Amino acid sequence: MSKTLLRNILTIAIFLAISWAVMSIEQNDYDDHNPEMAGYFEGDIMPDFPTRNGFPNRKWPNNTIKYVFSSSFTEAQKETVRQCCRELENKTCVRCRETIFLDYEYVYIKNDPVGCSSQVGCQYTWVQIMNLGPNCLKNHVIVCHEFIHALGFSHAHNSYDRDDHVRINFENIKEGNGYNFEKKEDSLDCLVPYDRESAMGYGPYVFSKNGNETITPLDGNYTGMGQRNRIADSDIEKINRMYCFNNCTATTNTTTSTTTTTAATTTIL
Ligand SMILES: *[C@@H]1O[C@H](CO)[C@@H](O)[C@H](O)[C@H]1NC(C)=O
Ligand SMILES: *[C@@H]1O[C@H](CO)[C@@H](O)[C@H](O)[C@H]1NC(C)=O
Ligand SMILES: *[C@@H]1O[C@H](CO)[C@@H](O)[C@H](O)[C@H]1NC(C)=O
Ligand SMILES: *[C@@H]1O[C@H](CO)[C@@H](O)[C@H](O)[C@H]1NC(C)=O
Ligand SMILES: *[C@@H]1O[C@H](CO)[C@@H](O)[C@H](O)[C@H]1NC(C)=O
Ligand SMILES: *[C@@H]1O[C@H](CO)[C@@H](O)[C@H](O)[C@H]1NC(C)=O
Ligand SMILES: [Zn+2]
Repeated sequence: MSKTLLRNILTIAIFLAISWAVMSIEQNDYDDHNPEMAGYFEGDIMPDFPTRNGFPNRKWPNNTIKYVFSSSFTEAQKETVRQCCRELENKTCVRCRETIFLDYEYVYIKNDPVGCSSQVGCQYTWVQIMNLGPNCLKNHVIVCHEFIHALGFSHAHNSYDRDDHVRINFENIKEGNGYNFEKKEDSLDCLVPYDRESAMGYGPYVFSKNGNETITPLDGNYTGMGQRNRIADSDIEKINRMYCFNNCTATTNTTTSTTTTTAATTTIL
């Protein structure tokens, strides 16, 4: 086979893979119109690919998350993403790099103005999708929020022990968004305690349908809830436990009840 033919076949294969991935994701109807939150992080967890269920964990091979920008990013926007990578590399053993020729298993980062979103963990497919709309690129912590999803973490309030710290007011949550408040009864919390100041947390009004709180801290302390100014030490600690020390406990606590939601058909974490 000639080199040109080979390259054409490869290009078509990559195109098909990306189209398939994009189609799979856009079937998901996620909310990005909440003006309160400027549309940058709510509902930002994309569903798994149908083939993705049942894998024991979602760590990136060789602790390395690889990504490629779609063509619409400006240099300044790319720099914000790289800033997140530098902080993660500085504080954890996770490595973060742009793809090189023939890489597979990477994140294709889109720039659509529909908010920020990511799948949770490595999907072990050729490409997986992250979206970083312009609002997500104002601050590298927002980018890191999505990268931390991609590394395999859900939100702070999805922690199995969150009921010890917050009350979820399901009666105030907009229809169809209850799944964003489910507890994840699995090992990915790495037993780092709930941290209200986590960059992976929500503020008290996210997905409110009536202006009342959806998340209420039990101790009445709202400090840092939903902040996106810095990556919390607890966020770094979780990443290190999962990737660097491999000492996340794998025990699943099934004694806590799962919450009832109106979007039970989508598999989220
Ligand atoms: C794993 O990552 C290290 C450090 O980034 C790199 O030097 C090495 O080539 C990688 N190994 C594989 C098999 O990709
Ligand atoms: C890495 O982190 C240390 C300590 O937090 C900091 O002093 C240093 O400037 C950081 N380096 C880079 C390249 O971010
Ligand atoms: C919001 O909360 C206030 C105070 O708890 C309550 O009086 C009000 O009825 C609530 N509004 C709605 C729409 O539930
Ligand atoms: C609220 O919590 C923060 C830590 O998250 C703490 O520094 C602060 O002192 C607390 N405020 C009150 C009033 O307890
Ligand atoms: C996790 O591993 C690190 C490094 O081996 C160790 O210092 C730490 O105590 C471990 N934590 C737990 C809870 O096992
Ligand atoms: C499981 O959750 C229940 C209820 O929150 C708690 O009492 C129990 O200690 C937990 N078990 C483990 C092993 O974490
Ligand atoms: Zn998120």
